[in-house]
Amino acid sequence: MTARIRVVFVCLGNICRSPLAEGAFRHHVERAGLSHAFEIDSAGTAGYHAGEPPDPRSVQEAHRQGVDISRQRSRKLVASDLDQFDYVLAMDRSNQRNIQTLAKGAVRAEIGLMLAEGRSSRTEVPDPYYGGDQGFSAVWKMVDVATAALLERIRTERGL
Ligand code: 4NP
Repeated sequence: MTARIRVVFVCLGNICRSPLAEGAFRHHVERAGLSHAFEIDSAGTAGYHAGEPPDPRSVQEAHRQGVDISRQRSRKLVASDLDQFDYVLAMDRSNQRNIQTLAKGAVRAEIGLMLAEGRSSRTEVPDPYYGGDQGFSAVWKMVDVATAALLERIRTERGL
């Protein structure tokens, strides 16, 4: 059996953006019939919310899109993740810098920005934590498109 491709989505708290990205990517992978080929996770660069479920506004937005993310639990990204995962997708540049700091030197993972996947005019997924529900819908739209593009890229790279 070939090793699964490991993908982790990373934001600050792992309760708003990266749980939606995890849910959207998992949904694309399931629809492509490729669940067996992937290990999919999300994490935060900070541990403030470790052990907690996603923000209720993220759970609600995902539910509206037919995706259940309610069983996810927040965790802090650790240095060893960067040698275990193949693809690490940061929601914004601050997250990406924090991940690079954690990496110190060379690591197995490719550390990229979520919105570098696809053709978004934006480069960062904005933090919706302090705003209203519409911020969560906007995040869903961005990560839904970007994770579809990510899956296509990985399929090409890996011959899936
Ligand atoms: P996230 O949003 O990084 O998208 O999960 C945040 C969640 C919590 C906090 C900040 C951002 N916080 O400061 O607790």
